[in-house]
Amino acid sequence: MKKVLIIEKIHNSGIELLKKRQDFTYEIVENLEVNFLKNKLKDCDAVSLRVFKLDKELIESAEKLKIISRHGVGYDNVDLKTTKEKNITLAITAKANAVSVAEHVFFMMLSISRGVGMYDKCVRDGNFSKRNDLQLTKELWNKNILIAGFGRIGKNLIKKCKGFDMNVFVYDPYVDEETITRFGGKKINDFSKNVRDMDYLSFHLPSTDETKNLINLKVLSSMKKSAILINTSRGTVINELDLNEALNKNMILGAGLDVFAKEPPDSNNPLLKNKKVFLSPHTSTFTEECTERMGVDTIQNIIDFFDGKLDKSMIVKL
Ligand SMILES: NC(=O)c1ccc[n+]([C@@H]2O[C@H](COP(=O)([O-])OP(=O)(O)OC[C@H]3O[C@@H](n4cnc5c(N)ncnc54)[C@H](O)[C@@H]3O)[C@@H](O)[C@H]2O)c1
Repeated sequence: MKKVLIIEKIHNSGIELLKKRQDFTYEIVENLEVNFLKNKLKDCDAVSLRVFKLDKELIESAEKLKIISRHGVGYDNVDLKTTKEKNITLAITAKANAVSVAEHVFFMMLSISRGVGMYDKCVRDGNFSKRNDLQLTKELWNKNILIAGFGRIGKNLIKKCKGFDMNVFVYDPYVDEETITRFGGKKINDFSKNVRDMDYLSFHLPSTDETKNLINLKVLSSMKKSAILINTSRGTVINELDLNEALNKNMILGAGLDVFAKEPPDSNNPLLKNKKVFLSPHTSTFTEECTERMGVDTIQNIIDFFDGKLDKSMIVKL
C-alpha cells in the first residue's frame, strides 16, 4: 500500500483518481506546522505539493519518500540538492498550466493598455458624459512584444500574440533560432540592447542566479516611456524597488505583476501602493479548468510513477 501525502488541498478530480485505486491511501493536510508535517512525512511514499516550501529538513524526515509531485511547474520551493541525494523523483504538471498563464498575460496587458480601472470608475462615478476628458488608451495591434523565456508558457503566449497581430521578439539563449522562427518570433541575443524597442515585455523564466534582477534601473531607464512589463514568472526576475522608482519617474508606463520577490509581499512593499501597477496574488493558474488539470496531473504523475509509466516530460532532471 502506497501512502500519498497531499500538502494543501487540490481539486477533487485528483482525489477521485486515488479513490479508484486499492493500492493507494492518501491524507490531505492543511496544517503546515513543521513538526506536524515531519510526523506526517515519516511514512509516506509520495507527496503532492503546492507552494509550501519543502526544505532539506522536511525531505530528510520523509524516510520512504520516492516522489515529490508538484502541483504546478515551478520547483523553487523544493530543496533540489536533498531531493537528488535521496534519489527522489521530482515531477511537475508540465501540460496543465501554460494556457492559463498565457491568458493571464493578456488579461494584464489589455487591462493596463485599455484602461480597465479608469473606464469602470468613470461609469460608476456618473462621469459617462465626461469620457472625452479621459486619457486615451493603447491597442496591442502592431506593437512589439519581447517574450523572455521560450518554454511551455512562452510558446503558448506567442500564438496569442500573433492572433493580436503583435510583432514578437524572443529572448531565450537556450532555444535555437529555427524553433523561434517556426513559431513566428524573431530571436534576439542581446537583451539589454533590444529592450529599448519594446512596447511590452513578458517574463517566462525560472528563478536562477542568471535571471535575478534581469530588470533593474539601468535596463528600465533604456526602455520606452510607453512600455509595459508583465511578470507572471518569478518575482526575483525584477528588482522591485527599481521598478517602483522607474514608474514614479515615468521611465515606463506600467507593470502587471502576478509574482513577487517575497510572497505574500510585505505590506510596506511600495509597489502595492503604486497606481501604475496592476496586481494579482500569484493566481495566473487559478482558473477552474487549470486547477482541475493540475489536481488531476499531480496525482496521475504519482500513480504513473508507481506503475512504472511516468511520462518523461513530467520529470525534472536533477
Ligand atoms: N504565476 C504562476 O502562477 C505561474 C504558473 C506557471 C509557471 N510559472 C513560472 O513561469 C516560468 C516559466 O514556466 P514554463 O512552464 O514556461 O517553464 P519552462 O521550463 O518550460 O520554460 C522556461 C524557459 O526559460 C528559459 N530560460 C532559462 N534561463 C534563461 C535565461 N537566463 N534567459 C532567458 N531564458 C531563460 C529556458 O530555456 C526555458 O525555455 C517559471 O518560472 C514558472 O515557475 C508561474
